[in-house]
Amino acid sequence: MNSRERFLAACRCEPVDRPPVWLMRQAGRYLPEYQGLRAKASFWDMVRTPELAVEATMQPLRRFGMDAAILFSDILPVLDAMGVDVRYGSEGPVIDPPVRSEADLARLRPIDAKTDLAYVGEAVSLLAAELHPETALIGFAGAPLTLAAYLIEGAGSRDLRRIKSLAYNQPELVHKVLAMLADAVADLLRFQVDCGVDAVQVFDTWSGLLSPEDYSDLALPYAKRVVGRVRELGKPVILYVRGAAANLEAAASSGCDVLSVDSSIRLQEARDRLGSKVALQGNLDPAELFGPAERIGERVHHLIDATRGTGHILNLGQGLVPDTPIEGVSEFVRSVKEYRESNR
Ligand code: CP3
Repeated sequence: MNSRERFLAACRCEPVDRPPVWLMRQAGRYLPEYQGLRAKASFWDMVRTPELAVEATMQPLRRFGMDAAILFSDILPVLDAMGVDVRYGSEGPVIDPPVRSEADLARLRPIDAKTDLAYVGEAVSLLAAELHPETALIGFAGAPLTLAAYLIEGAGSRDLRRIKSLAYNQPELVHKVLAMLADAVADLLRFQVDCGVDAVQVFDTWSGLLSPEDYSDLALPYAKRVVGRVRELGKPVILYVRGAAANLEAAASSGCDVLSVDSSIRLQEARDRLGSKVALQGNLDPAELFGPAERIGERVHHLIDATRGTGHILNLGQGLVPDTPIEGVSEFVRSVKEYRESNR
């Protein structure tokens, strides 16, 4: 079974020789070869230049041989395509001016991904040609709630106070923003599928900061809309939710094929609560990669034992952080790949 077959089988809860492995944020600054690219181009330039995006996507695969590649891009280019000013500063992304009124909303453009995000399609096509048929290629986008949080807060936020306050005072406005984002994201993901991705991941990084009531009102319906529109094309959809423990059943009810969970929940508990119809992805704490090799190996075995390796994609619970040791990443990937031998 090659990496792509293994990855797709796991997404569909079909039998595998061993679970597949990749890491959220597997491309990036912890790699000296990535820093080499960044010395010559800004992050935005890399995202918008297909050859550079392809190179950044391939770097971790050459070094560690993960089963899947994830397109090198970001969740915010879709906002740029909608006419929003997105900047990547040293403190993370900044949206200036943010969207907080009907007049701001009126300035947002609906997108046609094929023309407005043509550079994404070009990178995907080049990657598909390079990776297939051996290795899986994952496309992605931000979930509507997470994108709305950036759009309305203007930057990352610890408590989402602005989007919540707007949702409580002017619910129609926030729902209009969310609906527009859901359309844009669905269009982008369908375009990525047309260009050759094998699966897509929807990142709902910030919905874990919502109460269960707000999750059902503001996050779930729009995640569901996106998941449904992509699943029509027959490709698996992975939904990532941070703070998974609180929203587990609700998130799974989006109809996703795979639920990607952070380390706030034991995989065994997630499996018990959800049954085996939805595959799971995760969920090593990225800080574990700073620990000793034997500990990483033990943690990996523990994770695989929890799912018996079925319907499970090994991954982190959150994105890899910039100063992660290379050895930690290589030990993580190696431990998963060797699982088969140690269990036969
Ligand atoms: O996983 C991958 O390797 C693919 C590429 C990818 C990036 N961002 C590249 C990136 C993916 C899948 C993302 C998703 C993303 N972006 C999320 C959701 C996942 C998560 O982490 O919860 C979010 C919230 C963002 C928004 C974003 N982009 C932030 C908060 C930052 C700054 C923080 C940081 O790590 O610098 C970015 C910039 C960014 N996106 C970088 C990379 C490699 C760093 C840019 C640089 O080189 O300076």
